[in-house]
Order: sequence, then structure tokens, then C-alpha cells
Amino acid sequence: MNGLPLDNIPKNIQEPPGPKHKFLGANAYLSFLTDGLSYLSKLHKEYGDIAMLKASGHRIYLIADLKYIDYILVRDPENFTKGPGFQRGKILLGNGILTSEGEFHHSHRRMINPAFTRSRWGHYFAVVRKCVNNLIKEWEERFKVNNEIELHEEMMSLFVEIILNTIFSDDKNSALTKHAGEFMDLFHKLNPLYLLNPEKSLRLPFPSIKKITKAKENLDKEIHKILDKRINENIKRDDVLGIILEAKDEEGKKMTRQELYDEIFTLYMAGIDTSAKVMTWGFYLLEQNKTEAQILRKEVDEIVGKRDIEFEDFEKLVYTRMVLNETMRMYPPVWLLPRTAEKDFYLDDYFVFKGSSIFITPYLLHRNPKYFENPDKFDPERFNAERKKSIKKFSFIPFGAGPRVCIGEGFALLHGAVILSLISRNFKMTLKKGHRIALSSSITLRPKYGIKMHLEKI
Ligand code: HEM
Repeated sequence: MNGLPLDNIPKNIQEPPGPKHKFLGANAYLSFLTDGLSYLSKLHKEYGDIAMLKASGHRIYLIADLKYIDYILVRDPENFTKGPGFQRGKILLGNGILTSEGEFHHSHRRMINPAFTRSRWGHYFAVVRKCVNNLIKEWEERFKVNNEIELHEEMMSLFVEIILNTIFSDDKNSALTKHAGEFMDLFHKLNPLYLLNPEKSLRLPFPSIKKITKAKENLDKEIHKILDKRINENIKRDDVLGIILEAKDEEGKKMTRQELYDEIFTLYMAGIDTSAKVMTWGFYLLEQNKTEAQILRKEVDEIVGKRDIEFEDFEKLVYTRMVLNETMRMYPPVWLLPRTAEKDFYLDDYFVFKGSSIFITPYLLHRNPKYFENPDKFDPERFNAERKKSIKKFSFIPFGAGPRVCIGEGFALLHGAVILSLISRNFKMTLKKGHRIALSSSITLRPKYGIKMHLEKI
């Protein structure tokens, strides 16, 4: 089907269909940068499951055919790197497992994996439960004065707490939380155009750049303080940092100080934003779909009731987990998986040049009527034991697939179920009248104007 060596290329090789752009495609590039998701949706509608555009001489392939996705993400992943965007992103994110490639990535992924295996979930469960219960208490206090919240901001701060507590357990301190929250907030308000060339952008004399550089410096200082203490005083703790500190590669070597920092910072960046988006969209969908919200609440009442939630409840909260999956189907936070072809190859009759970009778009797959009937309808029952059997492999990929699949997948499902159930049991949400909901597809899929909700205690 694909990937044959070049000397076997059939004579009838061709390029996939796609738009013929003026101005060397610079306008296409700009359309993609300003509203990537709308632009790619239009391309997909017009040209189908494989399309190509040329932007400033660079070829970009939009791939939505499941067998090609299997090939790129799972069968031949060594030939596809994450590409120049992630390379440039290293100046902010470091060389952790999100951005690194090849043997280095493979070795570090092996060292970090033990921190995210199923046997660790019980430990993280207690952290998540504590953070959510604290938030519920805080909301109860705050609502004596005002019951309006901006849901997205609330979920972002909740995940700053959860992820910091999971990585550092007792080392958590208020300065760290403050600087971590500040940095995350500024990072997501940063104009995506800056990310085209962060190295140059970070030298620009703009107030927004100065602020984010300062926030990163402050955060770095706090993380380094914790690393110093844990390493110098040989403190052993049962948290993510504890596991990574002890991890050794195949030659028995531990991570260097810089590698350790980069991996910790990567987990922090990768874990918060994605998870907060799922919860934000999840509560929004439940607000819009009262019947499903009631079914979820009934399940929580029957399984958890008024007692505190326990780890064993997770498996039993079947409907809650279906709601979580349906939310990630409709609003996958990672809406785009970019790759770069490291060699020439072809997909059936279509030729793909080395160095081209390849875009796989979970959002387009998840909303494709070929794979999901009535795709714009919120229907958690798609994920019930019977119906989920008919979901085609690679048509639902909120966590990606293959060796670069999300390392935090299980942990994310666990905290998602705890948050959905505990908050739904305590509060009813109503969207603020007239509040505008729109999608923004910059780094992750987020509500462009936030989501303002009124909360009512149940
Ligand atoms: C619902 C929440 C989450 C979603 C939807 C999500 C989604 C994803 C996706 C799609 C990828 C693959 C990107 C690609 O192939 O280009 C990924 C990778 C990654 N995720 Fe998540 N993620 C979530 C939560 C988390 C959490 C909680 C953590 C850790 C605390 C985490 C850490 C990572 C890391 C480190 C990678 C890079 C893995 C590698 O390349 O080896 N994620 N995530």
C-alpha cells in the first residue's frame, strides 16, 4: 500500500488534490495560522481524505484516511518526526519527551513510563480527590458573594494544583503554584504567530514577551529550588519526580540535571492544558444536554452517594467515562498532530516528498459522518460496551497513537471521571445568558471567549 522504496515507484505517481494558491500560497499559510481548524475543515470537505497544499513552496499533506494514519503513527513512526514546530518550541519547552526524537526519546520515555502505569493510579487518585474537594469548598465560600465563574480559568487553576501535586507531592509551595499558574496563563494568551519563531520572538521588546520571559524565569527558579533540595538532601518521595529521579537508562545512567528539569517541565506543560480543556468542554456539553447530565448525576448518586469517592468507584462510573470519551470526541484538545516526513514515500498512488509536513487532525476524524453517525450530536451512548465495538480503529484518537501516544492517558481518564462526578454531584451549572461560545484552535482547542457559568449548589 505505502512506503515502498523509491526505485519501486509506479509510473502513474501523482500529487493529491488540493487548492491552487496565488502568491506562492502565502495566503494559505496565513489562513492556516489565523484559523487552522476552519481552514483544514474546508480543505477536507473540498478534497477528501488526502489533500495537499503548497505554501511558500512547502508541501503540506492533510491526511484523514485511517489506513494512512495507521501507517504514519503506528507502522512506520521512525520515518516521521514531529517537525520544525516542535524543534522551535524547545526554546520554551526544553528537550523533554514531547519534543525530543529518536533514541533519546525512546530511552527517556522508557524511564518515565513507570510513573504513569496503572499501579500508580491509586496514588494519584488521592491527590486529585483532595484538589477537587478543596475547589468545591472554595466555590461554596466564594458563592456566598458571587456565583459566576469563568469555567476555563477555574479548570486551568485546578489542573495547575493537580499536576504540581502529582509531580512534587509535599514539595508543593505557594510560590511555585503562583508562578506556575502565571506562566501557564501567559503562555496561552501568547499570539500563536510568536510560536512560529520563538527564538526571535522572545527577544522582541513587547510587554507580553517581557512578562512571559519573567514568568518563566520565576517558575524555573522555583522548580530548580525543589530539584536542589530533593537531590542535595537525598529526599525520597513517592511522586512522579521521585520515580524519575531514580530512573536509569539501558546503560544504568540516571538523567542529568538539565534532562530532569526538561522532563518535569514537559509533564507540567502537557498535562495541564489538555486536561483542563476536556473538563471545560465536558461541563459545557452537560449544561447543554440536560438529560445526559441527569443520567450522569444519577449514576454518581447510585455508586458514590454522599460518601467520599473511592478509587474502586472509577471502574463502576461507566456512564461518566462515556461522557468523558464523547467530550474528547467532540472537542479533542489536541486537534492537530503534525509530523514531518523524513524520507520520500508514497501513499497508494500519491507521492510524498521528504521534508513535507503531514497534518493528522483528530477533530476532523471525530466529526466525520463516515465514522460517527450524526457527528455533531452529543451522544455518550456511542461509547457503551456494544456500540463502541463498531468504532473504527484510528477514527477516535484523542490521545494520538503509536509510540508517541499520550503518556498520561490513563491518568487523564481517571482524573476526568473524579472531577466530572464530584462537581456534578455538588453543583448545577447554567451558561450565563448571552455568553458567546466559539472555538479557537491555537495550540489546543479552547473556548475563544471562555465559558461563563452560574453555579447552583445541589
Ligand atoms: C485528557 C487529557 C489529555 C489529552 C487529550 C492528551 C492528548 C495527547 C496527545 C494527542 C498526545 C500525542 C501528540 C502527538 O502524537 O503529536 C499527547 C502526548 C503527550 N502527553 Fe498527553 N494528553 C492529555 C493529558 C496528559 C497528561 C495528564 C499528561 C501528563 C501529566 C500528558 C503528557 C503527555 C506527554 C509527556 C506527551 C508526549 C508523549 C511522547 O511523545 O512520548 N498528557 N497527549
